[in-house]
Amino acid sequence: MSITADSPSMTTQTTEALSFTNVGKRYGEGPFAMQGFDLQVSPGELVAIVGASGCGKSTVLRMIAGFESHSEGEITLDGNPVSSPGPDRGFVFQDYGLFPWLSVAENVELGPKQKGLPRAHRRDLVEQHLDLVGLGRVRDKYPHQLSGGMQQRVAIARVLANRPTVMLMDEPFGALDALTREQMQSDLSQIRRSVGTTVLFVTHSIEEAVRLADRVVIMTGGLSQGIPGHIRRIFDVTLGLDRDPTSVEFTDLERLISQEVHAQG
Ligand SMILES: Nc1ncnc2c1ncn2[C@@H]1O[C@H](COP(=O)(O)OP(=O)(O)OP(=O)(O)O)[C@@H](O)[C@H]1O
Ligand SMILES: [Mg+2]
Repeated sequence: MSITADSPSMTTQTTEALSFTNVGKRYGEGPFAMQGFDLQVSPGELVAIVGASGCGKSTVLRMIAGFESHSEGEITLDGNPVSSPGPDRGFVFQDYGLFPWLSVAENVELGPKQKGLPRAHRRDLVEQHLDLVGLGRVRDKYPHQLSGGMQQRVAIARVLANRPTVMLMDEPFGALDALTREQMQSDLSQIRRSVGTTVLFVTHSIEEAVRLADRVVIMTGGLSQGIPGHIRRIFDVTLGLDRDPTSVEFTDLERLISQEVHAQG
């Protein structure tokens, strides 16, 4: 199956799906929690962000989502400045964030319904995306009847049914057991290949970042260290599609990233 993202109005010529230029964030009148954040993400790219707790990873995602304003700099999506939430950005949370009173199909249908799409089109989108995550058979069940992994698949289907420009994932597999987590990682890789959505993915697991990402952004600093959170380094991951976590290339890169994450100063 091939599903492509709708292309929102292109008012500006740009090659980036997502761009941060010198972005900084202060909460209230406090010091800058993060500052000087520069990153360009190409369409279809998966960029992972890793870094110690409090360095501003979730803040980055929430600013793109429009849940938080940025205090300085510019964030653009397909060339258009971001200022408030919109259906062109989908958020996948660690705790799934499904509506418990809605069935699986109704959860996935939510975005298309809010967009006012006709019923037949909505049905198609729901079926396509439940198939995509392998959950067609549980369409009438409710979230509490599903395992954690299945709930997270519904959350991913719900986001993708909205055809977002970018999918924002904040430690999406952090609450899952190790086996389910591995399965979800492999499924996400396949889903991405099929859909081509741009993804920004926050994780505490360096192995997960190396398994999934085209690039890994390492953030450091944060209020507890007395300096605003910022990017320390960005690694390209050139390991191909089928990555073997036991290969020398994989473990070498993991070690390099780990050294950067834990480096002082
Ligand atoms: N709503 C808020 N009000 C005030 N300060 C906040 C708020 N949200 C986050 N912060 C502060 O901003 C800094 C960055 O927080 P953020 O949640 O982005 O970090 P993180 O890298 O996602 O951490 P973790 O790995 O623990 O999830 C922290 O010092 C945090 O205390
Ligand atoms: Mg966080």
